[in-house]
Amino acid sequence: MVADPVNSVHLKYASLGVLVLQTTSLVLTMRYSRTLKEDGPRYLASSAVVSAEVLKMFACSVLVLMENNFSLQGMKRLMKEQVVKKPMETLKLAVPAGIYTLQNNLLYVALSNLDAATYQVTYQLKILTTALFSVSMLGRRLSLFQWLSLLLLMAGVTLVQWPTDSEGNTEEQKVLTAGSRFVGVMAVLMACISSGFAGVYFEKILKETKQSVWVRNIQLGLFSFVFGFVGMMVYDGHGVWQAGMFQGYNFVTWVVVVLQAVGGLVVAVVIKYADNILKGFATSLSIIASTLISYFLLEDFNPTG
Ligand code: C5P
Repeated sequence: MVADPVNSVHLKYASLGVLVLQTTSLVLTMRYSRTLKEDGPRYLASSAVVSAEVLKMFACSVLVLMENNFSLQGMKRLMKEQVVKKPMETLKLAVPAGIYTLQNNLLYVALSNLDAATYQVTYQLKILTTALFSVSMLGRRLSLFQWLSLLLLMAGVTLVQWPTDSEGNTEEQKVLTAGSRFVGVMAVLMACISSGFAGVYFEKILKETKQSVWVRNIQLGLFSFVFGFVGMMVYDGHGVWQAGMFQGYNFVTWVVVVLQAVGGLVVAVVIKYADNILKGFATSLSIIASTLISYFLLEDFNPTG
């Protein structure tokens, strides 16, 4: 995608805005989909990860086609030149693909074991891991003031989301055993490290080369699909053979899959036109925004000291 500087600034803020909306709705819908009581088996999380990858690759292919003025020939030529004839460049994407696949599966583990609020609090640690990887891998320098802002942001968001004794949380938490919470928290902590590393690695690749962000995403998606598929067959192979990959899917499952795929596209644009640290601020903003909406509009949230 070639964008002039003015367009880039628009894309930067528009993508950050969309990311705020997408993050808020994905967390809530995913948690809802994992707790929804329905007859029959619950959908396989590993299968939802694979479905989202397929959808993302399809969307990226349409975007590459658009970049080539809807010429299939042009697209074929581009893919041959940039993907097939540059195996080493393509192979570089296997690293973030493997890590993101693990992370996307961990997310389901976390939200199957933790309530949405606790999950959000713990996942904010990725702001710090991202900053640390940005400094070590991209050579970015942060002033003392910026480091303090990051710490303050993390502490602030954590406090805003800290589970209180209000009914909703305690009732739900009573049901969750300590063991299950431990599994959930460990899954989030691993996801924080993976999110920081994979995000910065992808940013490095995007900013050091001139390839289209959508071609890069197709390269990423190819590996993610393979890893995700192997993961699904290893962990849920038995279930897949018995009842198929799409067992237990319902409307909410498809909403989660679409939101996950849209998230991947938005994250790629944010990483290209802004950076991973700003991305952290945007997702935090989504928590603060939903808290404010809860308090002023929905009136279902009473802030404590
Ligand atoms: O929480 P975090 O921001 O690290 O999540 C990033 C998400 O975006 C992951 O689900 C990852 O699979 C997705 N992604 C993507 N394409 C990219 C970069 C990230 O689909 N180029």
